[in-house]
Amino acid sequence: MKIAVLPGDGIGPEILAEAVKVLNALDGLDFDLQQAPVGGAAYDQTGDPLPTSTLELARKSDAILFGAVGDWKYDTLPREQRPEQAILGLRRELGLFANLRPAMLYPELAGASSLRPEVVAGLDILILRELTGDIYFGKPRGVRELEGGERQGYDTMTYTETEIRRVAELGFDLARKRGKKLCSVDKANVLETSQFWRDIVTDMGKRYPDVALSHMYVDNCAMQLVRNPKQFDVIVTGNLFGDILSDEASMLTGSIGMLPSASLDANGKGLYEPIHGSAPDIARKNLANPLATILSAAMMLRYTFDRPEAADKIEAAVRKVLQQGYRTPDIHEPETRKVGTVEMGDAVVAALKR
Ligand code: IPM
Ligand code: MG
Repeated sequence: MKIAVLPGDGIGPEILAEAVKVLNALDGLDFDLQQAPVGGAAYDQTGDPLPTSTLELARKSDAILFGAVGDWKYDTLPREQRPEQAILGLRRELGLFANLRPAMLYPELAGASSLRPEVVAGLDILILRELTGDIYFGKPRGVRELEGGERQGYDTMTYTETEIRRVAELGFDLARKRGKKLCSVDKANVLETSQFWRDIVTDMGKRYPDVALSHMYVDNCAMQLVRNPKQFDVIVTGNLFGDILSDEASMLTGSIGMLPSASLDANGKGLYEPIHGSAPDIARKNLANPLATILSAAMMLRYTFDRPEAADKIEAAVRKVLQQGYRTPDIHEPETRKVGTVEMGDAVVAALKR
């Protein structure tokens, strides 16, 4: 199991160290872990947020464990040199078109959600975000001068039929293995791209009579996610809408620090990362929640390495530490045990061993 370990910036190195600790604590599994710089850390060393050597390592690995990238100090660099280009470049170069972002609520954290416990209790939804198309990558883009001299910024939203079909197909398959409901989210009342998306998904739905397919406009979906999130099972949507909705959905679960993600190519290779960012404000203070990264490692075992029993073990250990009352500051409530990043990782390892 060849794994590229890309810690990145901010809290990335700390949270990834805890995930590696947990992987190494699993009995009977042999990991070949190789580390490389990415994001701002790579820019500082090489002038490039995604150096060729890092990309090559990612290419020849079976999976990538990714921390986070970004720091305010790089915000004034030209776009090609900014840390975010590393993750966008990896997605594009490795063809990681399917981004799975589960949002499930651990019963122990119901009080940490900003919504009333009865609205979120038992929440278990999966957002499937298309990750290599849409306005994120569409061309042309830039800033141009109009006749008369006024400047205009522009981007292009595009989806090919192939791009829509492959992600929707995965959406139907995932729904089949879960609650058998798929909600496709778009903005078909305004956007041509979205109407095309909706037509294709509707057509595909005929082949999945056992999956209840619905369509929803993205603005309504944003509202429904806070009004009645439990109505959803699997949501499939484009890159931009998925970016926004998955951040929103994460907060239903109490903390963005709890949510893992998988970005998969067509052959099961994947990049695994927490959905939260690099949080430079709390970096190197032993404050960050490593659970999203640890749960991302569990997703890696499940989706790339087909080791569901090992993934189950990690997930059970995470539940256990929450039951034991361990909480990093982001999910801390009165009457629970406040711990740091390292202690949380240790607690998960201890729970694994038991
Ligand atoms: C995410 C992030 C990225 C995105 C940024 C860092 C480029 O917000 O993974 O959701 O917009 O996709
Ligand atoms: Mg985002």
